[in-house]
Amino acid sequence: MPMRFFLLLLACLLTRPVFALPTVPLATRMLLPVPTRANWGQGRFLVKPDFTWQVFTPQQTPATLAADSAVAEAVERLVLPVLLPGRTRANRRRASPLPTAALVLQYGRPGNLLTVGEDESYTLRVTPMGVALNAPTHLGLLRGLATLRELAAPNKVGGSVLPEVDVADAPRFPWRGLLMDAARHFMPVAVIKRNLDGMWATKLNVLHWHLSDDQGFRVESRTLPRLSQVSGQFYSQRQVRDVIRYAARRGIRVVPEFDVPGHTIAWQAAYPELSSNDSTYTVYQSWRLANVAFDPTKETTYALLDTLFGEMTRLFPDPYFHIGGDENDGRQWRRSPRIMAFARTNGMLKADGKTLDKHALQTYFNRRVLGIVTKYGKTMVGWDEILGPGLPTNAVIQSWRGKKGVLDAVKAGNPALLSSGYYIDLNQSAAFHYATDPLPDATGLTPAQQQLVLGGEATMWAEFADSIIVDSRIWPRTAAVAERLWSAATVRDVPDMYRRLALLSPQLETLGLQHRRAPQLLLRQLAGSAAAVPPLRTLAQVLEPVKEYKRHFQGFIYTTQTPLNRLVDAAPAESDGAREFGQLVDTLLMARTTAPSAVRRYLPQLRDQLQLWQKNDALVQPTLQQNPLLQEYALISTHLKTAATLALERLALLEKGQTPTSAAQTAALKQLDALKVPVGQTELAVLPHLRRLVEAK
Ligand code: ACM
Repeated sequence: MPMRFFLLLLACLLTRPVFALPTVPLATRMLLPVPTRANWGQGRFLVKPDFTWQVFTPQQTPATLAADSAVAEAVERLVLPVLLPGRTRANRRRASPLPTAALVLQYGRPGNLLTVGEDESYTLRVTPMGVALNAPTHLGLLRGLATLRELAAPNKVGGSVLPEVDVADAPRFPWRGLLMDAARHFMPVAVIKRNLDGMWATKLNVLHWHLSDDQGFRVESRTLPRLSQVSGQFYSQRQVRDVIRYAARRGIRVVPEFDVPGHTIAWQAAYPELSSNDSTYTVYQSWRLANVAFDPTKETTYALLDTLFGEMTRLFPDPYFHIGGDENDGRQWRRSPRIMAFARTNGMLKADGKTLDKHALQTYFNRRVLGIVTKYGKTMVGWDEILGPGLPTNAVIQSWRGKKGVLDAVKAGNPALLSSGYYIDLNQSAAFHYATDPLPDATGLTPAQQQLVLGGEATMWAEFADSIIVDSRIWPRTAAVAERLWSAATVRDVPDMYRRLALLSPQLETLGLQHRRAPQLLLRQLAGSAAAVPPLRTLAQVLEPVKEYKRHFQGFIYTTQTPLNRLVDAAPAESDGAREFGQLVDTLLMARTTAPSAVRRYLPQLRDQLQLWQKNDALVQPTLQQNPLLQEYALISTHLKTAATLALERLALLEKGQTPTSAAQTAALKQLDALKVPVGQTELAVLPHLRRLVEAK
């Protein structure tokens, strides 16, 4: 780091609240996703109460009326409340032949939402005179309006201020999705809608709605009514249409997933004739992988699927239809004499003549399902297990087991989506997801194969997220995925991504998302009194739920009925406090080598934070003890205290310019590492940063 920049950094650190890093005027400013091009000017436009807007529409047809009304709704509901706080309707100037309003929107034709790769480009120009938003299609206007919303900063005298800028923008990938799992925990329509608003704000354009699984079938079926009847909560068809309409008005497609032949216990509870082993089932109450699958040999299975998919393909207008296809290990098939006999007759045994070739049988099943989906005019999408010889090349492969799934698919000629690396339910960092690219450099793919990489989807599997906390498991990290899918591959600056994520996050909450509010309410509920909240929050803020699939395997047995109301559920998926502390540790360690005198000047910030964590244990223990739901976390609070104490000891030496003896350092690191043990399915997110401090030579 050049010295000049370092001194600037230092100056900023001294004048700002703890941990704030300097605001370097970067070209990206407040925009997330970063647009293709943004040229910033010096001026600004003031949005005042006399603000007006108008849309120039191409020739009036029924399609333009719908497009026009979607644009108007986005302006009035999503953008104006930010441009003119407190006002939901500002003067729309109609029937004026001249572009005289302050905000003038213009589009060439209604975009065809259901065409993957439809033009979503736009240009947005803010000058001191006004705002012009232009796009070839109305979908481009919807994207540009999300950018406009981000530009607005509140004005002290009311209204808002927009910086002068000239933006030209278009997406890198045409398929930018979010999977929401309404099967594991039901997600009411209001939850889906507010997340659709979040998707609009981050320019995501596909809601992948995971609607059936072992734990429930969540759509009303009129042809097979028992499916939803056995499942408890479900969406009526009217609600489904309402969600699809709501999404369409934000430029978002809705792709339904009905996962077959595995993940189907709820179906088998309703229609036992589907079962491979002639058992009767009740809707599954566990999250454990069940490995229960349909009988792929019976014609009645396909008759039922034909009936259901006939109905569901009419309900969902999208041309794509997701049939799942994941995680069936074939154990039920191997154990069924009837299925084995079928496999023998149809040449689906391995070379030994005895063992089932599971892949061959599942390929047979897939082809039958594909026939049904195709008959109803849809293109099939499935998880990467469905890829195999004989799969027609128009089936779309969604890769979840690794990035190789995308490469294998496009090399076989199939379009592909990346989700491996975007599993936001696994509590990894925004930086981790951000580093995952559907089309990294040097893939060795031909241009034609690269074209087949349609994009990707963040996946919000909901074993450990109910309708209350699900927003906090999606946002703001999903915005990092949204940027990866929208912006140029060269947009990779991780600190800048985090800087903008912090700006976007409160904006998402003003849209109606509850990712910040809901965990706070849960903490309040756990604490028992308002006074007890601050120390509990101090603890929760440096905890994260265990990563990947570990939450399934730590002794605590979850069922579908287990309330998600423990400290682990209030802990952030990614702790900002821990990450910012880590930045401070790194800055300090760097300063030690470049400007030793500087260490003393902001070492107090680190010490204050560490002392706060050290002292917090005594403050929070009474709260942890009084609520049975909190008692298990008493241990991790003492761990935080121990870790902070070790770091403070190292800091004291550092302050004196001394280094610890090698033996003392080894002992301290050993003690720290012992604190890695998860407690109540949480881990201390600050540990790696404390370790860097303690192990510094
Ligand atoms: C999956 O996560 N089983 C697609």
